[in-house]
Amino acid sequence: MKKILVTGGAGFIGSHLVKRLVEEGNEVIVLDILLRGNKIERDVFKSIEFVKGDVKNRDLVNKLVKGCDQVYHFAAVLGVDVVADNPVETMDTEVIGMQNITESALSHDVEKVIYASTSGIYGHSAMQQSVTETIQVDPRTSYAIAKRYNEIYLAAQNEEKGLNSISLRFFNVYGPSQDSRMVIPRFFEQALADDDITVFGNGKQTRDFTYIDDTIKACLMLADKVSGSEIFNIANENEMTIDQLAQEIKKVTNSKSKIEYVQAPKKRYDYEVERRFGSSDKLFNAIGYKPNTDLNTGLNVILKNLKQNA
Ligand SMILES: NC(=O)c1ccc[n+]([C@@H]2O[C@H](COP(=O)([O-])OP(=O)(O)OC[C@H]3O[C@@H](n4cnc5c(N)ncnc54)[C@H](O)[C@@H]3O)[C@@H](O)[C@H]2O)c1
Repeated sequence: MKKILVTGGAGFIGSHLVKRLVEEGNEVIVLDILLRGNKIERDVFKSIEFVKGDVKNRDLVNKLVKGCDQVYHFAAVLGVDVVADNPVETMDTEVIGMQNITESALSHDVEKVIYASTSGIYGHSAMQQSVTETIQVDPRTSYAIAKRYNEIYLAAQNEEKGLNSISLRFFNVYGPSQDSRMVIPRFFEQALADDDITVFGNGKQTRDFTYIDDTIKACLMLADKVSGSEIFNIANENEMTIDQLAQEIKKVTNSKSKIEYVQAPKKRYDYEVERRFGSSDKLFNAIGYKPNTDLNTGLNVILKNLKQNA
């Protein structure tokens, strides 16, 4: 049993992570400012210590990190439109939050910091190929720049002070309880209402959708096995166009929706890379596992969950 702090633990990925950490018998503290409400299941919530607060609050972070074995630092401002409208808050949360976490982790001898980075840092360098962790990155948005800054900062903290860390470059994580800032829940909402499914651009842009349970499994296995300061892609390795995604959701929901192609709002320009799909070879070499849930299976779990909660 470990004592573990999860920042951003009330969010989509964090709440799934917290559930698994509790199931495995760990003592879990969640620090979250609740920008999008609390996604932690009621039974799980009863078994954790929940602190509503800001990761930018240095004293609070220091108090909560004391006595922890590991810290999962997942708190962030995200969503294309949210980030475009709030670039300063996005960067402050990343940069100040990370400074607070690393400073406290070092002063309280935390064994490892596990950080949620993003595949967004590849930017347009992901155009030609399945990206590996070694290719030149090309972060263009405040969000992606700050994530890359934090990866470098963590590497420096390891070199200078011996802090162990893992940076996880997530590729479009999806699953139950995600909200409609992201494309899959938005398409589900439209499909289930038989409204037009609105695709930005011509729909030929690609992404690599990675199921939440696979993502969490990879995080936990890495946290157990890896030391030093390392970066890992967590990708499903399945390149898919947004058009194919819309068709698949229409099929799964048996929807009468039409697919409508609209011009992306101007503020989305920096995010609209043509291709993004990743290689999980490094992950597989480290833990003998890589994400493998196919999209149809993942979408059907979401549908079942939406029906149960309707
Ligand atoms: N969802 C994805 O596909 C994806 C892809 C790449 C990276 N990530 C990263 O994974 C992490 C989790 O993402 P998610 O999809 O669960 O997002 P989310 O928005 O559902 O969760 C983020 C949580 O962080 C909290 N938070 C924000 N600012 C905070 C602050 N100042 N102090 C404390 N809490 C704060 C929010 O209230 C929210 O509950 C983030 O770091 C994100 O950048 C996610």
